[in-house]
Amino acid sequence: MSDLAEHNRQHFDKVATTHQNDFGELIEAAIREFKARRGWITPALSNSPSSEAGKELRVLDYACGAGTVSKALAPYATQTIGLDLSLGMIAEYNKAASEMGFSNEKMHAYQYNLLAADTDSDSVTSSLPENTLAPFDVIVIGMALHHVSEPNVLLARFKELLKPGGVCVVMDMVPTDDAPDIEGVLEPSQLEVMRTIGKRGFTEQEMRELYEGAEMGKGFDYVVIEEKFRFTMFGHQFRVTGFMARGEVE
Ligand SMILES: C[S@@+](CC[C@H](N)C(=O)[O-])C[C@H]1O[C@@H](n2cnc3c(N)ncnc32)[C@H](O)[C@@H]1O
Repeated sequence: MSDLAEHNRQHFDKVATTHQNDFGELIEAAIREFKARRGWITPALSNSPSSEAGKELRVLDYACGAGTVSKALAPYATQTIGLDLSLGMIAEYNKAASEMGFSNEKMHAYQYNLLAADTDSDSVTSSLPENTLAPFDVIVIGMALHHVSEPNVLLARFKELLKPGGVCVVMDMVPTDDAPDIEGVLEPSQLEVMRTIGKRGFTEQEMRELYEGAEMGKGFDYVVIEEKFRFTMFGHQFRVTGFMARGEVE
């Protein structure tokens, strides 16, 4: 596993039970955005699956954490799979799925790293139930692309896992001039958290290049989210600007 992935696994295991509180405002805002933009992601998410009986709609929530994306979209999908490095976050996700009354077949998360090489003996690519990685209609990565060492490789993996016409969605941070000076505020002993971050957000041009590089540039769009995302770390409050991007497989 890469150093960045290992830092992420350890950090998110440590904060799994407090993350939803510290990032509560951001998580609630993200859920609102995902719900509101369902039709922008794909018209297939506009209706609940029961009203279009027989149509399969599989969603992959990659780097799912405690399930922000899934909480918003699972009611409109036939099946939602979460994948994450951190077993602590996966436990929170699966607790949320059962609290929402969803069966394991409807919404469930597993520990898995799509960036681990097949030969990586230290990888967290636990064996998944058969067909877990069968082609998806929608793949979403929410507030996690900035934690990944090779976003271009990850988007290429997403493309391989999408059906023809499938949609990839990224929610992340816009690298603005007024981005918070986290290093200036946190104590040296708290700066370990910065080792989980590969890049401080993505501009529209960077996202366009990533989508086009992964052959998912069709229908590309990048929307800056008006409401600032707020979160707390070590008692300090921060605000960042978020975006959502989408693109389709030809
Ligand atoms: C800031 S949290 C976001 C969680 C969730 N998507 C949300 O929006 O609430 C980042 C998550 O990414 C996961 N993560 C980081 N790098 C990853 C990787 N390479 N593969 C899978 N998960 C990863 C972490 O374990 C953590 O749960």
